[in-house]
Amino acid sequence: MSRTSGQSPDRPQWPAPGHAATAGRPALLRLQDFTVTLSGTVPIVRGIDLSVGRGEALGIVGESGCGKSITWLAALRLLGRNVTTGGEVQLDGQDVGGLSERELARVRGGRIALIFQDPASALNPVQRIGTQIAEVLRLHRGLTGEPARREALRLLDRVGIADGPRRLKQYPHEFSGGMNQRVMIALALAGEPDVLVADEPTTALDATIQAQVLDLIRELRRETGMALILISHDIGVVGDLCERIAVMYAGRIVETAATHDLLTRPRHPYTQGLLAALPTLTGPRQRLTPIPGTVPAPAAIPPGCAFAPRCPIAVERCGRELPELTFAAQDQRAACLRLGEPISLESAALPVMAMPAQVGAPA
Ligand SMILES: Nc1ncnc2c1ncn2[C@@H]1O[C@H](COP(=O)(O)OP(=O)(O)OP(=O)(O)O)[C@@H](O)[C@H]1O
Ligand code: SF4
Ligand SMILES: [Mg+2]
Repeated sequence: MSRTSGQSPDRPQWPAPGHAATAGRPALLRLQDFTVTLSGTVPIVRGIDLSVGRGEALGIVGESGCGKSITWLAALRLLGRNVTTGGEVQLDGQDVGGLSERELARVRGGRIALIFQDPASALNPVQRIGTQIAEVLRLHRGLTGEPARREALRLLDRVGIADGPRRLKQYPHEFSGGMNQRVMIALALAGEPDVLVADEPTTALDATIQAQVLDLIRELRRETGMALILISHDIGVVGDLCERIAVMYAGRIVETAATHDLLTRPRHPYTQGLLAALPTLTGPRQRLTPIPGTVPAPAAIPPGCAFAPRCPIAVERCGRELPELTFAAQDQRAACLRLGEPISLESAALPVMAMPAQVGAPA
């Protein structure tokens, strides 16, 4: 049996390749050789390059503990003093690292908005929703009084929260989880950001509400033209909304490509493993094949390729050499030492993975 077949025809339809054109779009937000280190010694993010263009949607995927959240929290200097960063973060060509706290406060929530997995902990529990929205409108758009109230009502209506005048007077505990997530989105929109960083925005929600919130984000992007960085452990969610995807593993980017290319012809064994664990929407039920093992803790990242202990095609040198991101095809890069080798996956030791595509298959 060949393991070189592509994705199951039952899988969701991903955006067409042409959809992914990002070339030529100037970077709005760019991380260059970005590192995050804990307590001066423990590397959590290990030199990543990422950029998102104006209006573009970039997905960041990877299992729990890969460094997806800490990358953006650290980039916006939202972490404590025990966390240090290296490399550069640029917004429209300007070094964010060089901004004063006051300037950075205007960037956060103004030019870059964040929404988190757990809105209940991100919203202030002792402040009315109206007060929280008004604060953003005042700080980032200079709106106060009646114009601010009108805009707050418009925002609530836009995110699908009815009975605005009453809702503005309520506290977060008076809203359901899905409604609080909508409030978070309204707060994010209040600053009219250029880019929205959405960190697992729907993980805590049930499937129906999750789909509604994702649809809302999609519509709002279309209306406002804001760029999106969508962080998720669910490659299916990211594939639905984003034009480009970066896959993270143990604090590094291991593969990046246009969504269609990455999902239909993944080149890195880790990406292939994530896809093999993705359920199909229709067709016969089939056994999912999770990647064996777990992501290493930052203090215990093995030398060489960090994925080697879990990789079905690892060879001896994978334990010694650090793979760099290399072009696997046009606009698709992967960090695998065996990229381009005509590997017979049949003969490789494949403990559990059903590969959706062959590593290093010709473009
Ligand atoms: N503030 C912090 N201080 C110390 N270590 C941290 C901190 N935040 C995260 N870490 C560690 O950094 C690593 C990456 O964490 P991060 O939260 O970025 O993962 P993630 O990819 O977002 O995972 P998840 O999908 O669970 O949200 C983990 O090992 C985590 O324990
Ligand atoms: S470098 Fe080696 S261990 Fe790492 S993904 Fe490639 S084959 Fe697997
Ligand atoms: Mg996270």
